[in-house]
Amino acid sequence: MQFTLNFPGGNVDYYMNASASQLLQIAPPHTCVLITDRNVNQFYGETFARYRVLTVKAGERAKTWETVQTLSSKLAELEAHRGTMLIGVGGGVVTDITGLLASIYMRGVSFGFIPTSLLGMVDAAVGGKNGINVGLHKNMLGTVNQPRFILYDTAMLRTLPDVEWSNGFAEIIKYGCIGNPEILQVLQSNNISFYKNRTSELNTLITTCVHQKNQVVLADEKESGLRKILNFGHTAGHALETLYELHHGYAVALGMMVALIASENILQLSPDVRTMVAGILQQYNLPVKFQFDVDQVLHLLRLDKKRNEDNIDFILLEAPGKAVIRPLSFDQIREALQIFADAAKR
Ligand SMILES: NC(=O)c1ccc[n+]([C@@H]2O[C@H](COP(=O)([O-])OP(=O)(O)OC[C@H]3O[C@@H](n4cnc5c(N)ncnc54)[C@H](O)[C@@H]3O)[C@@H](O)[C@H]2O)c1
Repeated sequence: MQFTLNFPGGNVDYYMNASASQLLQIAPPHTCVLITDRNVNQFYGETFARYRVLTVKAGERAKTWETVQTLSSKLAELEAHRGTMLIGVGGGVVTDITGLLASIYMRGVSFGFIPTSLLGMVDAAVGGKNGINVGLHKNMLGTVNQPRFILYDTAMLRTLPDVEWSNGFAEIIKYGCIGNPEILQVLQSNNISFYKNRTSELNTLITTCVHQKNQVVLADEKESGLRKILNFGHTAGHALETLYELHHGYAVALGMMVALIASENILQLSPDVRTMVAGILQQYNLPVKFQFDVDQVLHLLRLDKKRNEDNIDFILLEAPGKAVIRPLSFDQIREALQIFADAAKR
């Protein structure tokens, strides 16, 4: 299935349920440079043998300015020019780096993505945000710029480690919570091994998530309002991820629990919702309890790029599928964090 979405900065072609070999038709090798990480290159180097390939180390630690600088020098050595297209083949780390680099190399070249992790497919590659970390500050430097295309080949997920499947499901559960409770229902009846063995159901789920994210992004590409709801679970989640070097999806799972507690405190959300979401998270091998230092998390939240003068916009739920943006004082955030931290001691 193929469709095109029109963003103010240009069109994005989505090739869903496709094959990586289609890249040859979409982006001829002599006009492109591929960027990937060493893991992905080990598995799929041969698939892209006709392309010039630059690799970065695998994992979050590659998302630095140093990597962007090194890649820029290598691009210059390859004589990449304004007409060269960069193609990020990998998880969210690779697509973030590629999108940012392409947006500034020679003041901007075009780029495309082949997301190879579940999280990349449903989230990181979609929506045009591309960022790198600066020290403890996640995605502190970044751009909003759409790729020309995103090519989905779910056969590439066959080599994805189990933990990365769970990471991806954290974001899928997030989509269910903020806008599409039907996703939660479907997830309740299945599990990871079901999706690993059912290509058709997996592709349907991924496509649903891509549509859900794009619906929000099309309404608010630059995150002046609505797009913030995609950060459900990410505010406390990012702080936990940075402090305790957690997997992104694990941190988001924990962050969603904190946001649900805050929703109970502030919007009188029924605790049954937290029980239901916790059940689904566990079904997809995600954590729902964690021991952490409340003061350290609060300290990091005070440095959050989303903070206002004396509060932070938190995404809360009024009901499953109904997210709202609420400014929470640091006292309100502390209260939710404390309840969550205490729950882990029981
Ligand atoms: N830009 C955005 O809108 C956005 C949204 C969500 C997340 N992100 C970012 O995405 C990153 C997380 O993405 P991620 O979870 O994909 O992490 P990742 O890119 O680090 O990939 C996770 C691991 O899986 C490996 N991998 C990827 N595809 C594989 C495959 N097919 N087979 C075997 N191994 C494979 C990678 O080498 C890596 O070791 C974070 O940096 C996060 O900030 C960005």
